[in-house]
Order: sequence, then C-alpha cells, then structure tokens
Amino acid sequence: MNAPASFDTDLVPLYADHLATMKRRADEALARGGFDHLVVPSGTQHWQVFDDRDYPYAVNPQFKAWLPLTRLPYSWLVYTPGERPKVIFYQPFDYWHVVPDAPSGWWVDHFNIHIIRKPDEALALLPPAARSAILGEPQSALGAAPGPHYAPNNPEPVIQYLEYQRSYKTPYEITLMRQAQRLAVRGHRAAEAAFRAGQSEFGIHMAYCTAVGQDANDLPYGNIIGLNEHAAVLHYTELQRVAPDPLRSFLIDAGASFHGYASDITRTYAYDTGIEFQAMIDAVDAAQQAMCAGVRSGVDYKHLHVDAHLTLMGILKDFGVITVSPEAAVATGVSAAFFPHGLGHPIGLQVHDVAGFAASDRGGRIERPAGHPYLRMTRVLEPGMVVTIEPGLYFIDLLLDEVKKNGHARSVDWARVDAFRPYGGIRIEDEVLCTGGDADNLTRPAFAEAG
Ligand code: GLY
Ligand code: MN
Ligand code: MN
Repeated sequence: MNAPASFDTDLVPLYADHLATMKRRADEALARGGFDHLVVPSGTQHWQVFDDRDYPYAVNPQFKAWLPLTRLPYSWLVYTPGERPKVIFYQPFDYWHVVPDAPSGWWVDHFNIHIIRKPDEALALLPPAARSAILGEPQSALGAAPGPHYAPNNPEPVIQYLEYQRSYKTPYEITLMRQAQRLAVRGHRAAEAAFRAGQSEFGIHMAYCTAVGQDANDLPYGNIIGLNEHAAVLHYTELQRVAPDPLRSFLIDAGASFHGYASDITRTYAYDTGIEFQAMIDAVDAAQQAMCAGVRSGVDYKHLHVDAHLTLMGILKDFGVITVSPEAAVATGVSAAFFPHGLGHPIGLQVHDVAGFAASDRGGRIERPAGHPYLRMTRVLEPGMVVTIEPGLYFIDLLLDEVKKNGHARSVDWARVDAFRPYGGIRIEDEVLCTGGDADNLTRPAFAEAG
C-alpha cells in the first residue's frame, strides 16, 4: 500500500521480532491474570438502529496489535504460551460484498490459519472460555444462551499489562508509523496547494483524501480543516462548501493510517505570507521544534506541558497580545484561554493511544496537574514511547470572555486580540519518538523527503 517495493520484505524480520515481543507480553499478562489462553476477536459490524445500514467497521486494537489486518470482522486470534498462535480467519461466501482476500503477507508464516465461512464456526476452534482471557467488545460473543456462550471477559490485570506495554513501540511499529507520516504528508502538501488555489474547506478535504488515498473510513480521525476564524474551533469538522472571501488562514489537523497505525499532524498557514500572523506561526513553529527536542528519556511529560504554557505566553507577550509576564499569565489562568488543550498524547494503534495516565503495568493513575483538564499524557517519557507535541494559540471568544469575567481583562490587549481573531488560531503538531538519546521527530523528515 503506497510503499516502496522492498518495504514488505524489510518488514519480515521486524515482524518476527515484534511477534516475539507480543508473545512475551502475553505470557506475562496471562500469568498475572491466571489464564492459559489469550483470545482476541477482531470485532463485529455494528448496525444502525431500525435500519439495515452498518457503521464503518473498526477493528479491535488488541487484534491489530498482533496482525496487520484491519478489515477482517468476525475473526479471532488465539495464543497459548509455547504454541504456535492461531488465526481464525473469517472469509464468508458472499456475493453482495467484497470478501477479505485469502491470508497473505509477512505475517502468515507465523500462524496456524483456519478459514471460517460463518461467524459461529469459530466456536469449535476456540479454547475453553473459562481458561481464556478474551479481550474484546461484548458484541463479539458467540453462541446463543442457553447453549454455548463465548463472551469477552476483559480481565483487568491482563488488559492493564498489555496496554501499558503498548507504550513501548517495537521497531516494526515505528517503521509502520513512519510510513503513516509519509502518507499524511502527501495529503498535507496537496491540502496546502488547494488552500493557495482558493478551494473551500470541503475541496481541501477532498484534495487531502485523494493524495493520501484514504477517505473518512480509513483515516485515523476526522480531518480538521478550518479556514479563517474556523481555525479557532479545536475540532472543527463542518467543512464549508464555499471558500470565504478574503482567505486569511488555514489550519489542518489530519493524519493517515498504515496497517492500523496512525499519524496525527497539524500545520497552520497564512494566505499572505508577508503578514504578522505568519510571523506568529513562525514563532510557534520554532517553539514547537524546541518542545519536540525536549522529548527525552526521564522527562516528565507534565513538565513539558506546563513549560509549553510559559513559552507560548512568551510569544503572545512578544506580539503584544498579553500585557503581563508569561509567569503571571500562567498563574492567573489567562494562558489557558489562549492554549486550552493538552500539549499532546501517546499515539500508535490509536490516535489517542492507551496508557497515557498509567502509573504502572498493574494499574493506578497519574493525575493531571491542577488546572490542566485536557492533558492526555502524564507519564515520564521512556525509550520507545511515541507522543505528539502540538502546542497551539487561539483567539476563542468564549474563553476570552471568561478572562474578562474572572477579572483579568487588563492582562490582555484587546485591540491586538481583535487584530488576530480573524485568523482563528495556530496549532503545529508532530509525532516524536523518545529514544535513549536525542528526540526522533517522525514527522519533520517526512515533510523534508516530500520536498
Ligand atoms: N487530531 C486530534 C488531536 O490532535 O489530538
Ligand atoms: Mn494530536
Ligand atoms: Mn491532531
């Protein structure tokens, strides 16, 4: 899928190592939970109420952690320590839909594969439910009561361990995540060109999807594409069909999926690159790169987030938007009106990946610092973790009104707010791998490669 010809071959040894890691993790998780088998359904289709339409299928992340199979509902992974793992592969006889291709790819040699034609045929191939940790959604249950009933039990000790370990990406996963960056960058380049050509938000979205080769069902989250003031809506997904006049600014937060792994990239552009808003984008961009460099082993992500508030308020001070020191803006909560979200989050099989708050692989939660309700990552960074770094500055009337109500009106130069409000806001977002040494920004090289 849109990768160099040698790509799949290069993955063969990486996948073998990845699978060995997955087995080791499963061995420990099963021991902790007191189970003999790990059983993971891929998930089912879901139907709209009073209708025969299905929702887009979303694979169980616990399933795609093992297998690069994201379009295979009603299938199962079975792992028993010491045994070759099994894939129960659902390939129905169906002339209404395209059925999944016969199993192929770099994973097949590692599994015993059993083709089933009806979902219930899995029952005869599954290990005893009572001895199995079965991780999945309730709808994956098989067999009607009072007959045999095989249902996910999602034991906490097993899930806690596996989710915690998923924080540490294997080289195979990093390779797939780099490719997810390259795909998204194709879209970002096409989107910028569409913006400069005067297209609407909808037109830019279509240009993005065409360049990536993915649509809403494939992308890891709904594209955020906002022109002018819409850049101030953090999750703006309305996609106006007509471009505003004049065009002033463009914020795009959009990723891509690659064999189940996500990228999540944000860029902001000024239409006229000679203006002050462009200078503010450049300042946020430089600050963001410095924050990315801070992704180092032993660094507490909470501290990166709080430091980001100070840095961003320094930019607003330089541009005359706030009248008080960055420290005062942070202490009074004024900074949260301009930067009202977290610095970032773990990313991997899910765009907001699991275990961002995990205190240990046996449970527990590291709380957010007071006054930072939207931070999604509170852990100390370790090698193998991948996080986003996504500082932003926005001009959001709802939040700025709160600043006035809270008695801090004099902390802000409102004429400067009026000057920037028509541009909406700025966010710059990359993915960064924590290594044993320097931060490894996964996103920037993909833009550099694209030229
Ligand atoms: N695209 C959603 C986020 O940046 O978290
Ligand atoms: Mn993000
Ligand atoms: Mn994003």
